[in-house]
Amino acid sequence: MSPLHVVILAAGQGSRMKSALPKVLHSVAGRPMLHHVIDTARQIGAAGIHTVIGHGADHVRAATPANDLDWVLQEQQLGTGHAVAQALPQLPDNAAVLVLYGDVPLTTADTLRDLAGVVDQDTLGLLTVTLDNPDGYGRILRDAAGKVTAIVEQKDASEAQKQIHEVNTGILAVSAGHLKEWLPALSNSNAQGEYYLTDIIAMAVSHGLDISVAQPGDAFEVQGVNNRIQLAQLERWFQRREADRLMTEGATLADPARIDVRGELTIGSDILIDVNVVFEGRVELGSRVSIGPNCVIRDTRIAEGAVIHANSVIDGAEVGSDAQIGPFARLRPGTRLAANTKVGNFVETKKAVVGEGSKINHLSYVGDATLGRDVNVGAGTITCNYDGVNKFQTVLEDGVFVGSNTSLVAPVTVAAGATIGAGSTITRDVAAEELAVARGRQRNIPDWPRPPKAE
Ligand code: UD1
Ligand code: MG
Repeated sequence: MSPLHVVILAAGQGSRMKSALPKVLHSVAGRPMLHHVIDTARQIGAAGIHTVIGHGADHVRAATPANDLDWVLQEQQLGTGHAVAQALPQLPDNAAVLVLYGDVPLTTADTLRDLAGVVDQDTLGLLTVTLDNPDGYGRILRDAAGKVTAIVEQKDASEAQKQIHEVNTGILAVSAGHLKEWLPALSNSNAQGEYYLTDIIAMAVSHGLDISVAQPGDAFEVQGVNNRIQLAQLERWFQRREADRLMTEGATLADPARIDVRGELTIGSDILIDVNVVFEGRVELGSRVSIGPNCVIRDTRIAEGAVIHANSVIDGAEVGSDAQIGPFARLRPGTRLAANTKVGNFVETKKAVVGEGSKINHLSYVGDATLGRDVNVGAGTITCNYDGVNKFQTVLEDGVFVGSNTSLVAPVTVAAGATIGAGSTITRDVAAEELAVARGRQRNIPDWPRPPKAE
């Protein structure tokens, strides 16, 4: 079998995006469009991935760090045929070449694998789609027997040809040997003065090749992005597909139109996800996890049976089974909560390891801290972990009870079973089973006259 090489065209300006960012770096589902295309090329086992860049070339390269990519510079954008020609020196003669576009991000690996699979000396694979409104696209010309004979660009098409609804997606697969023969022979005498890649279809036919036509399962797979309206349409299509996948795998979604997955979300069964939840990066949800409305969850593992209440923000955390989080909790990176823990409203945690059954229920900051089992942290407790220069640890051992409105000035250790009186500022270690109270003693002054109001 011949090796598969992918050429991705990404040199165009994308002026209709009205953006300083090169078009192919605009994101769908939290990732630049070009990265989606590169991922798909990897998925189908490309032996080489050659990306043709021009406008914003340095920016595109810098945003795409990977050592399995070949970058090809097209200094002047003289047409799609000219763009592919720039990659020819990098393509082995025996390769099957699949041409993709940096601004067509959501073609599935299955569609492309099938298309590339047909390529040999006698066969070229062409991906077409039939559109209600074919305006702007190259039209597919077929002979009386239904065989494809050529593609004609909209600007070169006759009125009769413009009535054709089957259009060129731009995506095709052909042997490198043929490209090396045909691309140098392209002419730019057409309405746009460009070297059209599409002209190789007629060349292939005249050389007796068979044009094997495939169509994608859904037109959105081959939808390109020229402006931000199309970008938003693709985003919604992507998200709807993700929602369908999640429901198929056992999640109940309060509204499949109000969930956003910008990364990799894996789930167990019997998951509940309420409206307006955003997932970013790698997120794993165990079975029976329930997520309330308006949560943002990034790079986090949530074990079975945990409940995340409304408006919680969770980033870089591990949440144990049957834990209860929020509403309005913020778990920051390095938070590791064991089973049956509770982190309640207006609590922020960071680099906090919390043992089984421990509770931080209200209005607290717990950072750079290790809590044992069954620790109770009262409302308004703050770990003072930072002296302006360095960070220090707070340790609360098993069964510690911290009264409300306590400051724990790190480094500090409160040993097992100790109690902290409410309103304390704890600066020294507390031994096991001790009570520590560190606050001004209350004085009651009898018959105290309030100051009179000034005239
Ligand atoms: C092209 C096809 C058309 C097809 C349509 C699908 C040709 C001649 N026409 O038209 O049949 O229906 O796509 O969207 O191929 N690019 C470069 N270098 C260049 C020119 C283009 O990298 O010199 C890149 C662009 O960045 C873009 C892609 O190739 O991503 C397509 O170019 P574009 O000018 O948009 O082609 P269309 O006129 O849309
Ligand atoms: Mg285009």
